[in-house]
Amino acid sequence: MRRTTLIALTFASSSILALMGMVMAKDGAKDALPPGSVSSAAGLQAWKRIEAVVTHPRCANCHVDAKAIPIWTPAGESKPRVHGMNIHGGESRIGAETIPCSTCHVTSTTPNDPAPAPLHAGIDWQLAPVEFIWFGKSGAEICAQLKDPERNGGRDADGLLDHLRHDASLSGFIPRAWAPGAGRTTPPGTFEDHVKDMALWGAAGQPCPD
Ligand code: HEC
Ligand code: HEC
Repeated sequence: MRRTTLIALTFASSSILALMGMVMAKDGAKDALPPGSVSSAAGLQAWKRIEAVVTHPRCANCHVDAKAIPIWTPAGESKPRVHGMNIHGGESRIGAETIPCSTCHVTSTTPNDPAPAPLHAGIDWQLAPVEFIWFGKSGAEICAQLKDPERNGGRDADGLLDHLRHDASLSGFIPRAWAPGAGRTTPPGTFEDHVKDMALWGAAGQPCPD
């Protein structure tokens, strides 16, 4: 009896996992363009626009190196500076070793409050994994990292599109960059423009500048 229940449970949970995998894999499927349908030149132009987004403070301030110190670019400022109050992401990247990010950056799907309130999102606030480093890197370096599955969380071009859509479905960090709270600057274009550019760049074979 107990054994049957266990087997039934195992089946149920594995089919839920399979279903989740299917749903997640489909997140960006409608955005993807047929591979090879975009020229390398058009792909490079798309990359230039992507570069302007990923190097923008609203993105790069979290994608920092192993020192795990988040960066601030408050409203009215354009120069990056170290996060105030001696904040440190630690190896956990969520500040578990010192003060957790969530102490101030609460998890919430409500719109961001006007600056200088700490930004928030629908998922727990944290630094990006250390291999996804963008802050202080050149466009060419970021391009090479972003297309390298060994350094981007195992994602191909479609996987990157899935990540954008999945993050948006959770009111995550990425669409929030275009709604960061009054006064803070936003990356060029819109979130939808960024998804389109990632699709163009992917279909062109992810070309990078030299
Ligand atoms: C609050 C911090 C934070 C901000 C702000 C942020 N990210 Fe991230 N980013 C993360 C974390 C954490 C991950 C790891 C998530 C995962 O791999 O599932 C990540 C992963 C990614 C990835 C996956 C692959 C890779 O190589 O990085 C992409 C793409 C990405 N972010 C894009 C962006 C873009 C575009 C912006 C700005 C519009 C942005 N992020 C802003 C924290 C942030
Ligand atoms: C004691 C409160 C507090 C804690 C704890 C805290 N922050 Fe912040 N953080 C703030 C405030 C306030 C701002 C807004 C500054 C501004 O106006 O841009 C901010 C802004 C940021 C920004 C800038 C976002 C942007 O778009 O420019 C990043 C990145 C950031 N925090 C990351 C973190 C991370 C990662 C942690 C945990 C390791 C953390 N913070 C912990 C208060 C805090």
